[in-house]
Amino acid sequence: MKVLGLETSCDETAAAVVQDGRGILSSVVASQVAIHADYGGVVPELASREHVSNIDFVVRKSLWEAAQSENFSGWKDIHGIAVTCGPGLVGALLVGVSYAKALSYSLGIPLVGVNHLEGHICSILLDHPEAEFPALSLVVSGGHTSLFYVTQLGSYQSLARTRDDAAGEALDKLAKFLGLGYPGGPIIDRLAPSGSPTAVPFSLPKISDGSLDFSFSGIKSAALRHVRLHEIAPLDSFTPQEPEATPSSVLDLLASYQHSIVDQLLDRIARALKGRAVRSIQISGGVSCNHELRQRARDRFESEGFAVYFPRPNLSTDNAAMIAAAGSLRLEAGDSDPWALSVDPNLPLVS
Ligand code: KG4
Ligand code: ZN
Repeated sequence: MKVLGLETSCDETAAAVVQDGRGILSSVVASQVAIHADYGGVVPELASREHVSNIDFVVRKSLWEAAQSENFSGWKDIHGIAVTCGPGLVGALLVGVSYAKALSYSLGIPLVGVNHLEGHICSILLDHPEAEFPALSLVVSGGHTSLFYVTQLGSYQSLARTRDDAAGEALDKLAKFLGLGYPGGPIIDRLAPSGSPTAVPFSLPKISDGSLDFSFSGIKSAALRHVRLHEIAPLDSFTPQEPEATPSSVLDLLASYQHSIVDQLLDRIARALKGRAVRSIQISGGVSCNHELRQRARDRFESEGFAVYFPRPNLSTDNAAMIAAAGSLRLEAGDSDPWALSVDPNLPLVS
């Protein structure tokens, strides 16, 4: 079964054709980063307008790319459409869902709405069909930091989520404050190895009710206090984002900040492992590209006997192949959504 996936929940317009939920025949992502970079974050109205301008081209390109493979010749080979219907920016989601409905109606094929978080969880399967369940699945991105216990795909128990900022949001905000550019996660990832991870002491947040929830606003405020106390001047936009051009006080702060964010992510996984049957640890979402997170998660949990999986980097950040993979699970089971499918900016994965 070949499924067309569409993703427009935030600032990437994406379309992909996926076969049998696993084989990527095409994956096209039009990033809006250059448009939002001037504002240091995503501007919802601009995002919606860009999706409207881009979606038709992105979908056609995904069909064209798929047609370069032997067993795909065009629209008549698409069996169903999967589209992100939440969570995300309401106007942005509406573009994808409206487009998907029109396509599904005109082609006479089924439509399924996909939860963006389930898409990230399923991104692992595209590269690692061997990953075993039950799994602990951490989705860590610019909009989400959530930990799930997944007994099998489609069956999710929520263990923890962030009480304030998402991990990627915390990285993006500090980078913006320091004048480093947007999005901050990949920039900090590149600069942090040149600083000392113990130079600035950050402590793990204590959640008084003993839950596994995440919190990143405390360390973000501590980092901003550190910047003011040590009179660290923001860099100007002409400074190259290279270690040689970055003051050591900034490199040390970035290294310590990233280290403490990774500390917290690993701490919650370690605590969630206690008393649960777990066959694999799966980490997805944009922040899962981070080199320190990948290295330390593998070092720590593989030595304890767990298989640790990440998607490849271009399946970690937002893409439509993961949406097609998640939608395929339902379409293959004969399930679909009615024309009344709507968007929900706060759609929960577990109700
Ligand atoms: O999954 P994603 O593309 O969109 C959301 O669903 O939010 O994630 C984007 C986030 C941004 O906050 C970005 O800074 C972060 O992922 N990110 C990274 C890296 N690459 C992207 N964070 C740390 N290290 C990276 N290499
Ligand atoms: Zn995402």
